[in-house]
Amino acid sequence: MKLKRILKWSVRAILLALILAFLAGFIAYWRSTNDCDRNTGAPVNPMKTIVHCEYGSPDVLKLEDVEKPVPNDNQVLVRVRAASVNPLDLTIRGPWLVRPILGMRKPKDTRLGVDYAGTVEAVGKNVTKFKPGDEVFGGRNGALAEYVCGLADRAIALKPPNMTFEQAASVPVAAITALQGLRDKGKIQPGQKILINGASGGVGTFAVQIAKSFGTEVTGVCSARNVDLVRSIGADHVIDYTKEDFTKTDQRYDLIFDLVGNHSFSERRRILNPNGICVMAGIGGAGWHDGMGMRLAGELNAYVASRFVGEKFITYIASLNKADLTMLGDLMETGKITPVIDRTYKLNETADALRYLEQGHARGKVVITLD
Ligand SMILES: NC(=O)c1ccc[n+]([C@@H]2O[C@H](COP(=O)([O-])OP(=O)(O)OC[C@H]3O[C@@H](n4cnc5c(N)ncnc54)[C@H](OP(=O)(O)O)[C@@H]3O)[C@@H](O)[C@H]2O)c1
Repeated sequence: MKLKRILKWSVRAILLALILAFLAGFIAYWRSTNDCDRNTGAPVNPMKTIVHCEYGSPDVLKLEDVEKPVPNDNQVLVRVRAASVNPLDLTIRGPWLVRPILGMRKPKDTRLGVDYAGTVEAVGKNVTKFKPGDEVFGGRNGALAEYVCGLADRAIALKPPNMTFEQAASVPVAAITALQGLRDKGKIQPGQKILINGASGGVGTFAVQIAKSFGTEVTGVCSARNVDLVRSIGADHVIDYTKEDFTKTDQRYDLIFDLVGNHSFSERRRILNPNGICVMAGIGGAGWHDGMGMRLAGELNAYVASRFVGEKFITYIASLNKADLTMLGDLMETGKITPVIDRTYKLNETADALRYLEQGHARGKVVITLD
């Protein structure tokens, strides 16, 4: 009798919790709003920027005038000369998984882009490391704009003089993802054998060069049309995934840097040396493609399964910071890494740039130039 009553009340409590969660979601959905809903009038000191008031395809992007930012005492105002786009920018499509963070019905932050390079126009009175005229590169939300403004002690560094603005703007998200994945998660060591799956994309082209800079033997995996490119940036061996499955060879690796996630835990474990590491950084090129849900589930399974074996399967989210940008700047200045730029677009062509990226077959980085 008692058990029956406990069960009855438990079911009621769960039902009530579900109804409350549904109501909270419903209210959050209809209450979610953004700048576009507030009529603020014409900007006094305008600058052009890319905005998206709604979720949707790249068609929702608009080039608009907004108020040019003014740096506070600790900030740097940069005139953007080039920016680059990343798979991250395709959250304009509003995947439901991330809407609780980005805004349920509409994006809370209507600005787009992260990577930029440009010239310092003004600095706050506490800023000593930068001065007007300095050429810099960095990462800041809303970088697809004529100006960005950010804290001087965050992700901003001097641009190596031998790099163009376009090259420097292609670095922050992609190269930091590669660096942190290989160095911090993969514990890369000189002399190791490294396999990079997805070697021809924005992150992969940096990963190949960064892995070589650590004195390792690198195998890159890409399709036939990118074999020469991946070899030209330093890969010792290249596997064309349309002809050969890298998990079906006799080779063993100390580290797999996987940007695609299209092989199972056991397939990848089989080609790892004992105590080897597989860094699961992505699930394929930008944009939606078949089997993405299965890949995500496979990566989760690999993460859990590897807790019980010697080989480790690790995932992570890259985080932008000044120290890593500075290190990447040094690698560029000494010629150890050279960004690979696939295409460039103008700011007012950002939607076309994202449409291209979304196809998932970029060869290196897609860059936006500003005059
Ligand atoms: N963990 C993090 O913090 C983090 C940060 C940034 C990016 N990511 C993720 O990392 C992944 C790569 O990002 P990205 O900027 O490099 O994207 P991207 O530039 O769009 O990557 C495009 C490349 O992916 C390659 N590719 C597609 N399918 C492939 C396959 N089956 N095997 C091998 N290569 C394949 C394409 O080569 P082909 O044209 O030859 O097919 C193309 O060169 C994405 O999933 C992204 O979301 C994660």
